[in-house]
Amino acid sequence: MKLPDKLHKKIAERKAKNAFRKLGLNTDLIDFSSNDYLGFSKSKTIFENTHQYMLDTGICENGATGSRLLSGNYSLYAQVEQELSFYHNSEAALLFNSGYSANVGFFSAVLQKGDVIFYDEFIHASIRDGVQLSHASSYKFRHNDLQDLAKRIANIKGSLKYANATLYVVTESVFSMDGDTPDLQKIAAICRENSAYLIVDEAHALGVFGQNGLGLVQKLELEEKVFARIATFGKALGCHGAVVLGSKELISFLVNFSRSFIYTTGISPHALATIKIAYQFLRGAEGVQEMQKLRCNIQHFNSEVARLGLSFIPSASAIQCTVIQGTTHTKK
Ligand SMILES: Cc1ncc(COP(=O)(O)O)c(C=O)c1O
Repeated sequence: MKLPDKLHKKIAERKAKNAFRKLGLNTDLIDFSSNDYLGFSKSKTIFENTHQYMLDTGICENGATGSRLLSGNYSLYAQVEQELSFYHNSEAALLFNSGYSANVGFFSAVLQKGDVIFYDEFIHASIRDGVQLSHASSYKFRHNDLQDLAKRIANIKGSLKYANATLYVVTESVFSMDGDTPDLQKIAAICRENSAYLIVDEAHALGVFGQNGLGLVQKLELEEKVFARIATFGKALGCHGAVVLGSKELISFLVNFSRSFIYTTGISPHALATIKIAYQFLRGAEGVQEMQKLRCNIQHFNSEVARLGLSFIPSASAIQCTVIQGTTHTKK
């Protein structure tokens, strides 16, 4: 069937801009572009240990069968959520089917009419989408520019319109495009001074920063100063899904109001077991070894970029950005 004209026109426009997207198949080229920072997606040990865990515990269901609020909640959920809150030094944890659905579900539920959220201009699309679905006002601040953030908060606080607004600030601990990191301590201080709630997306910090790769918030001991953290498992953990870390009250709020949590089938037992085993791996000797290997690769990449005199955005993360002949190339 022919595509409606308006859709056809949008495709043509995209092609004209040389920005048309197509699905490709993975090749056996060297991986410079995936988020599989530690190679966990191809770990035979994680694969085999997950399989063995399923056999040992007698879990033989293929799917969750429904929303967790109906038939889809099973005991492994509580176990994994308890483990994640313990590992991440958080009061509670709530699993989502992906980072995208965690962010959409979190922001659309938490932000209320009359509230204000400040977001870094380079924030991930999933956060933007969640904010857009809410009824809150949103203001972007310049990338990693904390003076700009403070100025924008001051403007809002001086306005009568927002006298009763609850304020939120959201950033990423490692930005997905350039791999750079904001000064989280300063952002936390600005939030404290202004009674704003801080939310940090740790998608690209998990498995890369902090003891046992548990993220930058933990590395900087900011757990108590952050309202919520979002960590995803499709990057360094090499599997799928995401977690929101926060207080018991926040998690209970999300269970009641987060639509991407409520109106979807839960994660399958096998996918959940993979998350559990991937975390065990991350916290074990193999995880330490893989993180060390990643660090060496990052150092090597940084020194080669410096040796070749290429301009680059400083990044200690797995995402490295260099400019080659006037074109920006992001390598992961
Ligand atoms: C910062 C950030 N948050 C969230 C997501 C979404 O995570 P997921 O791939 O698990 O949906 C991504 C994915 O690219 C991301 O870069």
